[in-house]
Amino acid sequence: MFDTIQQLKEKHNAVILAHYYQEPEIQDMADFVGDSLELSRKAAATDADVILFCGVHFMAETAKIVNPNKKVIIPDMDAGCSLADSAPADSFKEWIEQHPDHIVISYINCSADVKALSDIICTSANAKKVVESIPKHKKILFAPDRFLGKYVMKETGRDMVLWNGSCQVHEIFSEKALIELKVKHPQAQVVAHPECDENILIHADFIGSTSALIKHVNSSSNQQYIIGTEPGVIHQMQKNNLDKKFIPLPSNTGCACNECPHMRLNTMEKIVQSLENLEHEITLDEEVRVKALKPLNRMLEIV
Ligand code: 13P
Ligand code: SF4
Repeated sequence: MFDTIQQLKEKHNAVILAHYYQEPEIQDMADFVGDSLELSRKAAATDADVILFCGVHFMAETAKIVNPNKKVIIPDMDAGCSLADSAPADSFKEWIEQHPDHIVISYINCSADVKALSDIICTSANAKKVVESIPKHKKILFAPDRFLGKYVMKETGRDMVLWNGSCQVHEIFSEKALIELKVKHPQAQVVAHPECDENILIHADFIGSTSALIKHVNSSSNQQYIIGTEPGVIHQMQKNNLDKKFIPLPSNTGCACNECPHMRLNTMEKIVQSLENLEHEITLDEEVRVKALKPLNRMLEIV
């Protein structure tokens, strides 16, 4: 399958970008694997004609916002995101109208329509810096992730009005299971994504975006880690650290997997199909795209 993908990529001058929450074989096959910030930078810089985005819809949409003249395709159009879905553009607009004197910061996990209504975008890798870039006297609306918002409020000391959204993967990690794992593996460090609830983050030795977590385990001398994010990241962690042990944090439903059901809709078979037929194409209303590009560029310029 790797050879077929290679041939199709050459035929269409395509580049494959993949998020760390994809299946290990998709990560290994991709031209570039990264977190949301790195992927948006990579999408903005590519000279390929076709971008095959192995991630979820809002990520492929972001690639299209910065590349109006390129074909952006996604293996499965149903690969959505609970955070993006929690903020429908019409109610988001009403919320902004109720807070007229606020700067609107939106986490990149939102639709192009919501980006178009925002002043600046952030990712989990740069949320603190983006918030700190706003003058202290300005009031801030932060959407759609209330857990990331709460974490950033604590880190920056800034007060923000938060949208009530959450990630369905990160919000269900079990604090009880985490405490049990810490007792069983007292040497293990806890690393967690800021999309987790505060009851998980208070136990964390290190908090960061998927890339930051991977970099942390690469540079730390600790031998064991409890992983408080989607377990797709463990593939990169293990590859770079064969002698270290990585323990995925279970959810409160008893499942030890915690895989994002949207991310995992993408498969190698669908990738081949997608490249063969150049489907499923992301299209955007030009007015929305231009409006969404502004806050996205504002983020890319400052961090
Ligand atoms: P990052 O890639 O910014 O760490 O975000 C994780 C995530 O949930 C993406 O959907
Ligand atoms: Fe959305 Fe959470 Fe899945 Fe990321 S892991 S795509 S935030 S549902």
